[in-house]
Amino acid sequence: MSADRSNWPAILGGQPAVTLDQTEANRWPLLTEEDEQAVLGILKDGHLSIHPVAKELESDYAKLTGMEYALSHNNGTAALLAAFFALDLKPGDEVIVPSATFWASVLPMIWVGAVPVFCESEPERLGLDPVDIERKITSRTRAIVLVHLWGLPSKMTEIIEVAKKHNLKIIEDASHAHGAVWRDRPCGSLGDITVFSLQGDKLAPAGEGGIFLCREYEYYERAVLLGDISRIIELETPARRFAATSFGIKTRIAPLSAALARIQLKRLEEHNQKRNQNLIYLSEELENFGFHTFLPPPHIKRVYFEFVIRFNPDRIPLPMPSLLKALQSEGCHISMPRYPLIHQQPFFTEGHFRSILRLPPEISPPNYSAENLEATCQGNRSLIKLPSFPNSGKELLDQYIEAFKKVFVHAEAIMNSAPEIEEPADTNPFSDA
Ligand SMILES: Cc1ncc(COP(=O)(O)O)c(C=O)c1O
Repeated sequence: MSADRSNWPAILGGQPAVTLDQTEANRWPLLTEEDEQAVLGILKDGHLSIHPVAKELESDYAKLTGMEYALSHNNGTAALLAAFFALDLKPGDEVIVPSATFWASVLPMIWVGAVPVFCESEPERLGLDPVDIERKITSRTRAIVLVHLWGLPSKMTEIIEVAKKHNLKIIEDASHAHGAVWRDRPCGSLGDITVFSLQGDKLAPAGEGGIFLCREYEYYERAVLLGDISRIIELETPARRFAATSFGIKTRIAPLSAALARIQLKRLEEHNQKRNQNLIYLSEELENFGFHTFLPPPHIKRVYFEFVIRFNPDRIPLPMPSLLKALQSEGCHISMPRYPLIHQQPFFTEGHFRSILRLPPEISPPNYSAENLEATCQGNRSLIKLPSFPNSGKELLDQYIEAFKKVFVHAEAIMNSAPEIEEPADTNPFSDA
């Protein structure tokens, strides 16, 4: 009896399950005439460098988060540098950070002399592990950087408790979490200082842009002093005396970007709803296949900067490289997530950080070794990234589900016939998103 080959896996010569075009389904950002008009409005004004739109954007973000002060920046990296500068960290002060994040959550602090101390990420929400935070605290620890990775709010109850107990400041990197909510509080309102990136892939993109937010005037003032020469003169404190120099860099946002950012922020809820509708539908199906999809507990409203799921070897009938390859053959855009772990990068492991972080001789930096953070390394190897389908209809999602079904049903045949499949390269470290 010949086997039914109509639903045969593409990796074994069958037809791919995913046939619909994916370009429009994954188009991002979603721009309309309103975006064009906003940008054109600035061009017509002709004020391309300093324009009221920057303050309007700041006020939008202050409203979104309930934070008192906001300062727009040319990117999130600059806003993070401002956050470290604002805390007035001294050489050798330690800041506890995740390794599982984009580099910009960590590296800018080195320019103000602060020492990153890498901490494990917990497996449930992929944020800082509160238990490991506490283990990493020393007499020099001053602050924590937390990241709501992929749009999933971190374990704030425990993190806030540890921070309070040890008198640590929280820098909240909310770059993946525009619109996410934790216990009725918006992400972006949970730190002493919060930063959003508005880079082009983000949920409310400006092309390039960043927002710095805080409640303390003193932090705002230091951020202005660092990077916004034209605002220093507006300060009503003795800090105005620095109006001729600033503290050495210039990081204000371009009005064209700010104009775009305002429109994208206005449409954030609508855009997030579309992603959530698509990805919750897909998640519920993928949970049945044995994947962990990071559906949030009821006290959290998560968003999806990216759609990352966890491979469970006990429930999935193929090793991860074979699964990825088989699904890719079906036409699925599926891969390992793209952030390499920061603590394993040559900047730290080969000691290059020392040329910027000029620590006093009596202070030695931590032992940065690629072997550290065993739990994070292990957890990271089991993550898989799928598209976030920001503009997709249900038909394409159903084709993805069909692709998974087909690969699972024929797992044994795939294992028996497919050529040896290599471990995929860890991640693509060369993206700035
Ligand atoms: C978590 C996180 N923090 C910070 C940044 C830096 O922002 P930017 O690219 O706007 O400098 C990014 C990404 O771009 C990010 O993903």
